[in-house]
Amino acid sequence: MSPPPTTQTGELPQTPAGPETLNLGLGQPSPSLLPLPLVHEAAMRRLGPGADPLVLQYGSIHGPLSFREGLAALMSERHRSATRPEQLLVTGGISSALAFVSQLFATPGQTVVCSDPTYFLARGIFESQGLPVVGVPVDEHGLQVERLEQHLEDGLRPGFVYCMPSFHNPTGVELAPARARRLVELAERYDFVVVADEPYLMLGFGDAPPPCMMSYDEGRGRVLSLGSFSKILGPGLRLGWVHAADALVERFSLHGALRSGGGLNPVIASIVQGVIETGALGRHIDHLREVLGRRSQVLWSALRAELPELPVAEPRGGYFVWLPLPPGVDATALLEAAEPHGLRFTPGPRCAVERDLSGFVRLSFAFYDEAELREGVRRLATVLRETTQPGRPPAR
Ligand SMILES: Cc1ncc(COP(=O)(O)O)c(C=O)c1O
Repeated sequence: MSPPPTTQTGELPQTPAGPETLNLGLGQPSPSLLPLPLVHEAAMRRLGPGADPLVLQYGSIHGPLSFREGLAALMSERHRSATRPEQLLVTGGISSALAFVSQLFATPGQTVVCSDPTYFLARGIFESQGLPVVGVPVDEHGLQVERLEQHLEDGLRPGFVYCMPSFHNPTGVELAPARARRLVELAERYDFVVVADEPYLMLGFGDAPPPCMMSYDEGRGRVLSLGSFSKILGPGLRLGWVHAADALVERFSLHGALRSGGGLNPVIASIVQGVIETGALGRHIDHLREVLGRRSQVLWSALRAELPELPVAEPRGGYFVWLPLPPGVDATALLEAAEPHGLRFTPGPRCAVERDLSGFVRLSFAFYDEAELREGVRRLATVLRETTQPGRPPAR
């Protein structure tokens, strides 16, 4: 008997998913990857009988020290550079961190640079803080830092440069080390900060994890690396962190909202500390790497088998595959044609800053199981055949 379809319904999810449509645009963990028992067990310890009632008090501005110690140890173990608790500050996830960054590291009206394509919801955060966005293209080696350099030589003075150095959303690429080093040099020369959005950093499928952007900072105080529990534990926790040189962390801690509120999300940070201290989070991350690694291979192999003419790169980590469409096929029109087949995805233009990305789609392998991913690719191939060879009977 085949397992029930992956769905999420009711009042809780931001994006409901019913059984009829496979929405390969969903960049979220599947419900089967949300480890409720781990969080429940830790919550009982933090909030149950005998627990310290001060967990409900205004918290420390940087976040509980024991939480930051536990997180620093986990990061040091998983990344290539040692992390100290003083370099960490708790946030309400990367989305909230980006709003703080926009207020603290750019002046109203100042341009910010954004990788193009980009995480499609980041741009809205910058624009809602009154920051105009300029795009710098991403290729198979990540952000084209030489194009940024050209803008800087031409007089652009951005508040910050927003990039995703590890398993970029939507392309999945990693920033080449030489480019990462150059980016930090430029940040120093032209006085901006590099905002590295790294929620997928711990989700590499190979043995060697990619370097964290902070490993290129070397004490210069030019990198803000933003992390999150959304992709490695649960997005509903609304918990993340800033990892930066002590002086940059201090700039966050002086923000009025953090001073007034006593830091962000202390109750959830205390609970998540309970998941870290038992080693359960590390084991869960390894489980995710295994499951996502398998799913990514299934999706990639199905694409290679069904659509061999499309040059799609093999995913090495993260949540996404970036698929170039056959010449002349428009991603937005394809999405419309896919709806009656019970298929959705993210059309390239949603992720665009300035580029024409109508010839690409983003597919996620995080939400559906292996059989559903195969079925999604089968539907995609059918729609593509109908689009490129109208009048031809659908393939069996
Ligand atoms: C690159 C990137 N940054 C940030 C986010 C959102 O992070 P958070 O849930 O921590 O706000 C996402 C979610 O898809 C993402 O892909």
